[in-house]
Amino acid sequence: MCGIVGYIGSKNAQEPILEGLTKLEYRGYDSAGISVINHQQLRTVKKVGKLNFLKNSLQQSPLEGKIGIGHTRWATHGIPSDVNSHPHLNNKGTISVVHNGIIENFLPLKEFLIKKGYEFLSDTDSEVIANLIDYYYEDSIESAVKNAVRDLEGAYALAVITTEEPDTLIGVRHESPLVIGLLDDGFMPASDIPALLAYTEKVKYLENGDIVVMTKNSIDIYDSENKKVERETKKIEWDLESASKEGFDHFMIKEIYEQPKVIKDAIRRKCVDGVLNLGDNTFSKEEWNSFESIYITACGTAFHAGEVGKIAIETWAKKQVQTEIASELKYYQPFIDEKTLLIVVSQSGETGDTLAAMREAKKKGAKVLAITNVVGSSIAREADKVLYCYAGPEISVASTKAYTTQLIALYALALDMAKKLGAMDEEKVQNWIAKMNNLSSTVEELLDSQGERYKKLADHIKDSKSIFFLGRGIDYLSAKEGALKLKEISYINSVAFPSGELKHGSIALIEDGTPVINIITQSNLVDKAISNIKEVKARGAFTVAIGDNNNDGIKEVSDVVIPIPLVDDILAPVISVLPQQLLAYETSVAIGNDVDKPRNLAKAVTVE
Ligand code: G6P
Repeated sequence: MCGIVGYIGSKNAQEPILEGLTKLEYRGYDSAGISVINHQQLRTVKKVGKLNFLKNSLQQSPLEGKIGIGHTRWATHGIPSDVNSHPHLNNKGTISVVHNGIIENFLPLKEFLIKKGYEFLSDTDSEVIANLIDYYYEDSIESAVKNAVRDLEGAYALAVITTEEPDTLIGVRHESPLVIGLLDDGFMPASDIPALLAYTEKVKYLENGDIVVMTKNSIDIYDSENKKVERETKKIEWDLESASKEGFDHFMIKEIYEQPKVIKDAIRRKCVDGVLNLGDNTFSKEEWNSFESIYITACGTAFHAGEVGKIAIETWAKKQVQTEIASELKYYQPFIDEKTLLIVVSQSGETGDTLAAMREAKKKGAKVLAITNVVGSSIAREADKVLYCYAGPEISVASTKAYTTQLIALYALALDMAKKLGAMDEEKVQNWIAKMNNLSSTVEELLDSQGERYKKLADHIKDSKSIFFLGRGIDYLSAKEGALKLKEISYINSVAFPSGELKHGSIALIEDGTPVINIITQSNLVDKAISNIKEVKARGAFTVAIGDNNNDGIKEVSDVVIPIPLVDDILAPVISVLPQQLLAYETSVAIGNDVDKPRNLAKAVTVE
């Protein structure tokens, strides 16, 4: 996720900006840049790759000047490249802008500005902002920014400087974070506290919609209604280490808690004005009609998301889908040909097995649609179409927020297909989008409400030899992801079974106290699930249900019930996976494992 650092004060801006950006590296990025003004001259340096490339280049030729802005970019629009890096300038080269977030309506704004004679150098949404500010600029950068942000839709934190007013730095916060560090001799806006820790303990947290106008010795804050407001100055309590995880003990738990936000972003990015619109990232009606077979392939967590995607496509678009693990599909694809669509799902976009299966299918003429989280990744580059997840960088090896945003992308794809194939009318599609939009707050409520229960449960199961996860239908697919999560970071043998299958052999493994986690969200399968729990309970299992707390049958057969809000059956994995992620996390912590970097595993496995 992008990081912003600005500086206005009585020292050279370059050093605190670079130091601040270094402290934001943990957020993940693929390029970096900086603009500084000196004697009304704006100098900008941008480099794709590690921050060190930028630092090396600045060492050769340092930037002088006491006002500046810097940025680490995590690509969303356009591949990581020097030209797509921030800061972005207006055509005249007098205004410089860094942006963190997404401008949803950048296309119509870009078209508008092109008609007014503006030219664009990059593929980014952010470049629009610099030219839009220019369009409104008469004699005040403050007014120009205020006018420009009125036209912007989406999420954005901005820092803006201009050679026309070299003593003014403007900050904007709207749905993306921005805090203002108070220095003895100036101000430092930044995306996050770690960027400020070396310079100040005093900070002002902005509210959504705030616009901040800073000079070396003054700060004025305006709220979303352009009323001048005061924001309290607070003391930073964090140390550098914990702050880099934003106060969380591990990246995994931080990423679990990011899910309400990234789910919201992911849906927003699949719509234009709230209406499902995948634009060029999907196929036309004719193309959809031309596919005679559809496959989904992936590895690990991404495969589990793909399996849910199959159900969504088959249910909504009425098209049959085959799912196959990528390392298997590479060697066995007798029915893949030029009439096949292969959907590949990969957080990193670099997984060797997935890439190999995809290349093999392409050789046979198949078309490929990729669902990935990393812009410019190999899979994204080689696919015919790409739907991005917009989960932001996922640092913990155990995937959490990537899974839920992969689900969102797959749901959106299934709806797009359903609409174009005539399997669902526009109104029904929009009903599903509305339901998907509600998921974010449901996820938030669930994460906020469940607190300590996982610690207790983790303590209870942490010494188990093996743990079973059961579910029927789509709940089985969610159980598979839960079992993988627990196994990856607790090293306990955890296996998922379709609830009805356990009795055909593996029930022999149930001993007194063996934990069995049951996922029960599907309205028509509750009674069957209860019968299966009874079977394992009769053999001494310790039974945990993730389901409806108000169902007496579930309560009766379960030692512990983890209540979850019930949503439509097909969307349920977005919700039912959360307790499983939290349980895996707390179990790993209770055992004392390295949660974020479990043994033997890597975040992106680029070998086959
Ligand atoms: C590795 C990781 C898993 C991940 C899988 C697929 O095995 O340890 O957590 O699910 O790769 O990764 P991808 O980047 O393709 O989604």
